[in-house]
Amino acid sequence: MAAVTLGAMAAPTLPELDTVDLSDPATFVDGPPHELFARLRAEAPVFRNRSRHPSIDDFWSITRATDIEWISKHATLFSAHEKGIWMRPDASAPLDMLRNMVIFKDPPEHSRYRKLVQVAFTPRTIAHLEDSVRTQVTAILDKACETGSLDVVRDLSLPVPLTVITDLLGAPASDVDQLAHWTAKLDTGIDNVELGYSMEAMMEMGAYLGDLIPSQIGTDSLVGLLASVEVDGDRLSEEELLMFFAILVFAGNDTTRNATSAGVLGLLENPDQLAALAADPSLIPNAVEEIIRWATPLNYFARTALADTELRGVRIAAGDLLVMWYCSGSRDEEILPGADRFDVLRPVEYHQAFGGGGRHFCLGAGLARLELKVIFEEFTRRVRDLRLTGPVVRHCTTWVNGYDSIPIAVTPA
Ligand code: HEM
Repeated sequence: MAAVTLGAMAAPTLPELDTVDLSDPATFVDGPPHELFARLRAEAPVFRNRSRHPSIDDFWSITRATDIEWISKHATLFSAHEKGIWMRPDASAPLDMLRNMVIFKDPPEHSRYRKLVQVAFTPRTIAHLEDSVRTQVTAILDKACETGSLDVVRDLSLPVPLTVITDLLGAPASDVDQLAHWTAKLDTGIDNVELGYSMEAMMEMGAYLGDLIPSQIGTDSLVGLLASVEVDGDRLSEEELLMFFAILVFAGNDTTRNATSAGVLGLLENPDQLAALAADPSLIPNAVEEIIRWATPLNYFARTALADTELRGVRIAAGDLLVMWYCSGSRDEEILPGADRFDVLRPVEYHQAFGGGGRHFCLGAGLARLELKVIFEEFTRRVRDLRLTGPVVRHCTTWVNGYDSIPIAVTPA
């Protein structure tokens, strides 16, 4: 692959890259540093990141899609359990507690856990949600058409997935703000452990879900279903159940929200693409895939090498942490020429926004796709002439690529 340069800044060299620290949240304030990732893919795809943070050990930064896929598909060599999935192993809570989450499990434990939880995520269960998502989105957009404006994050991206998760859990609608609050705390807490937000949110969520479970037994809510699900005589332990709901509150929420926000921004900057989708709604499923790829709302997940190994001729020692940058893999030119461009009209067959294709591949991908399909079907059908009316406020950490506010004016179609 041709070396990628930084235009006027030019002539990047490996020693300069040595000063790069991808564990520094400051590198991500305006979103993932895509130019830097392009350089790393070209010049140092297996890059030793020296962290300046006293609590983060050095790690390997993996930026090419093929390497991310390879690591993801070799779960017996690269563990999610050993040191967890973040640069800082105990970023949100003690590792022993986090290890009750499906995303922290290795085989064979992971196979068992995934078999139990995926009964609640069948295509049929998910398809049932379509009507209620459409009703909510339609009401939001009707109101926006009346007033001529909306804040994309506050009015659309945030409430839709949040309502879906609240309904799925069987939690009262009046608790949506509480769930949103925990999501925000977890989000900020990963990069700012000293604030203690994540741990606080996990404890509060644990207590909340512990109270919710008894009221849901025997109902067809996700909580009700998973509290009693049995496969081959096996059940989820109480800790596993609580931690599964904790992951849903975050994973089912923040990710779809940030993909929605990025998608609206992409269409705002490309009115011809908005017009093409409005003229031919059959293009929406591909558009949704492009939106998810371009947004890649979770920047990375980590794994730990369980044995000495080698990647692209670089020696990786047992115990080393490898950070797989999905936001880089989704923009790898080797996979998709012109990957930095937002283009809902070209076919998108591969990206890494849902992971590198291994056993931890996003369990909620079908649900996220459904929500985004409905959102963009209704959005492209109803509004035109998108225009920013204030600053776009980003909310980015090393882990999350998101937005806090996108105020826009719209005209009814
Ligand atoms: C656009 C939206 C979403 C994105 C970008 C996203 C992204 C991801 C990523 C990158 C992973 C890790 C994959 C890996 O390491 O191989 C993951 C795992 C997971 N996601 Fe999502 N996600 C989204 C929506 C959802 C939703 C809506 C839910 C559930 C309601 C969900 C539930 C999960 C769960 C439970 C896992 C862990 C799976 C496992 O460990 O086996 N996600 N997601």
